[in-house]
Amino acid sequence: MHILLSSTLPRTSPTNTFLSVKMKLLSSLAVVGLSAASSLAQLAFHGVNIAGFDFGCATDGYCNTTQAAPPLLQYGGSDGYGQMLHFVQNDGYNIFRLPVGWQYLTNNVLGGVLYPANFEKYYTLVQTCLSTGAYCIVDIHNYARWNGTIIGQGGPTNEQFAAIWYSLASQFKYESRVVFGVMNEPHDIPDVILWAGSVQAAVTAIRTAGATSQLVLLPGNDWTSAATIWSDGSGAALLNVTNPAGDKTGLIIDVHKYLDYDNSGTHANCTTNNTVAAWEPLSAWLRANGRQALNTETGGGNTASCVEYLCQQRAYQQLNADVILGYVGWAAGGFATDYVLSEVPVKNTTTGYWTDTWTVEACLSPRAFVY
Ligand SMILES: *[C@@H]1O[C@H](CO)[C@@H](O)[C@H](O)[C@H]1NC(C)=O
Ligand SMILES: *[C@@H]1O[C@H](CO)[C@@H](O)[C@H](O)[C@H]1NC(C)=O
Ligand SMILES: *[C@@H]1O[C@H](CO)[C@@H](O)[C@H](O)[C@H]1NC(C)=O
Ligand SMILES: *[C@@H]1O[C@H](CO)[C@@H](O)[C@H](O)[C@H]1NC(C)=O
Ligand SMILES: *[C@@H]1O[C@H](CO)[C@@H](O)[C@H](O)[C@H]1NC(C)=O
Ligand SMILES: *[C@@H]1O[C@H](CO)[C@@H](O)[C@H](O)[C@H]1NC(C)=O
Repeated sequence: MHILLSSTLPRTSPTNTFLSVKMKLLSSLAVVGLSAASSLAQLAFHGVNIAGFDFGCATDGYCNTTQAAPPLLQYGGSDGYGQMLHFVQNDGYNIFRLPVGWQYLTNNVLGGVLYPANFEKYYTLVQTCLSTGAYCIVDIHNYARWNGTIIGQGGPTNEQFAAIWYSLASQFKYESRVVFGVMNEPHDIPDVILWAGSVQAAVTAIRTAGATSQLVLLPGNDWTSAATIWSDGSGAALLNVTNPAGDKTGLIIDVHKYLDYDNSGTHANCTTNNTVAAWEPLSAWLRANGRQALNTETGGGNTASCVEYLCQQRAYQQLNADVILGYVGWAAGGFATDYVLSEVPVKNTTTGYWTDTWTVEACLSPRAFVY
């Protein structure tokens, strides 16, 4: 699925930013043995997280639903629709990830019964995303937990986890561009084989509900880190997850990776392009197992170091586009423009014209590299 890039697209900031970054990319390509940028494959997906419905969710799986901030103007939030339209029409993006807390969907009732007043708002965001023509990832942002306890390992049962996915998949089963993100960032999971069983329960529920062909993202342990999924046993366990018919069509490995020194995505400066520690071994592992991955969270501060390393990371991902489907930046949506990893574009209310952040403008926007 190639993105059509028009050379007549307006540019929103000085062209020399583009050129200097492009020159850097070209010289780094020489290092990896490529003579021309035209030999880089296009990634299938370039995206941005449109956060907000997940606000209030903590890494222990508690979600304070009063802090959820629907990123839509009609609900008093940010202009997530305008942002997505801009990202698609001006930048060439083609996928958005729409995080939401499990507790928000069910109004704090454990299980799979969608709470209409809340779900209606999330459903509107998904439909708004679809209306831009992009793919839209439904992401339950609960760290494999509910209120401090782990799914299938002392917390919610696999049946309760399957129930929320059955409900969601029933709502979107006719939407070919909805992607099901089974769970955001599992971590500190005692038994990764049991966890793969929980993921299997979700996949079976999604397919049984009638969403038979959409992509489903399978998350491993260790915050779905691209640097460990191939070595920590959770990836090996996920390789066994299947569709009800026994095949693995559409089952994609979910990975996250930040570029700051501790891979936390909380620092303005970046220290690595992740090639040696993550993308190279991950790509080899995916190829050896005949699988593909999508990088659903990455990003950095709007600083020179992050621009440099994000461009290198993207170039390496493009070299491995047979197994790495693409990336989804963290984040836009309800974040403030001064958030350390902001990818929130700013609209000039007089002209209606959007300006992107530095990392988006220089590295992450498909428009940043027109070959
Ligand atoms: C949830 O968030 C609201 C708004 O920030 C706050 O007033 C409330 O105390 C929080 N509840 C809990 C249980 O932390
Ligand atoms: C989970 O935590 C939330 C927020 O503290 C609370 O409102 C809810 O009742 C808890 N749910 C369960 C099932 O314990
Ligand atoms: C995956 O399935 C194979 C075949 O059933 C089995 O031998 C292997 O132990 C399983 N691996 C994991 C990590 O569950
Ligand atoms: C980021 O790196 C720049 C250049 O080395 C430095 O001036 C700045 O203080 C760093 N910022 C932070 C928040 O560490
Ligand atoms: C990524 O960083 C490594 C050093 O860790 C370097 O060798 C490589 O050239 C960089 N990749 C790109 C595309 O610049
Ligand atoms: C919006 O655009 C107008 C016209 O180009 C310009 O005069 C104004 O300064 C811009 N506003 C902001 C906040 O950048």
